[in-house]
Amino acid sequence: EIGFFFPPEQTLAVIKPDTQHKEVILDEIRARGFTVSRLKDTVLSREMAEEFYKEHRDEPFFGQLVDYMVRGPCTMLVLTKENAVDEWRAAMGPTDPGEARETAPESLRARFAKDILQNAVHGSSNQTQAHDKIHFIFGDISSENEAVSPALEAE
Ligand code: TYD
Repeated sequence: EIGFFFPPEQTLAVIKPDTQHKEVILDEIRARGFTVSRLKDTVLSREMAEEFYKEHRDEPFFGQLVDYMVRGPCTMLVLTKENAVDEWRAAMGPTDPGEARETAPESLRARFAKDILQNAVHGSSNQTQAHDKIHFIFGDISSENEAVSPALEAE
C-alpha cells in the first residue's frame, strides 16, 4: 500500500464586514476539516484595506471594495489543512454569488454573499499570497505553525 503525506498548509481567510451568520460560517469551516489556527476581529483602516487589496488598485471596483472592507469588523482567520489554499477557494465558491449558485450551490458565497462586491468571504489565491497576507494581518507566526493552540480553537 502506498501512502501519500501532504504537509499542512495555511491560508488567510476573511469573513468580510456585515456578513450575516458568521458563527454558521465558522462552524462550517471546522466541519470542512480546517483548523482555525488564528482568529481576530479587526476594523481595517483605509490604508490597510488599500494595501490588502493592492493587486486590484487599477480595477474600476477598487474604491467600492475598499469602502466595503472598512465598513465594520473583518474576522481574520488563519486556516490550516492539507491543500488549504485551494480547498478554501473551493469552499468559498466563485467571486460572483450568481455564478456560485449555478455552479457551486453548497459554497459559502452561494449561500451567504449579497452580490459580487459584498461576497461574504475572502481567501488567498496562492501560497505566496497566503504567506504575505498572513504576515500582513498577523505578523510573524511561523514559530507557532507547528503547535495549533486548542485555546484558539475555542476562541
Ligand atoms: P477577485 O480577486 O477577482 O475575486 P476573489 O475574491 O474571488 O479572489 O476580486 C477581489 C474582490 O473584489 C472580490 O471578492 C469582490 C470584488 N470585486 C467586485 O466588486 N467586482 C468585480 O467585478 C470583481 C471581479 C471583484
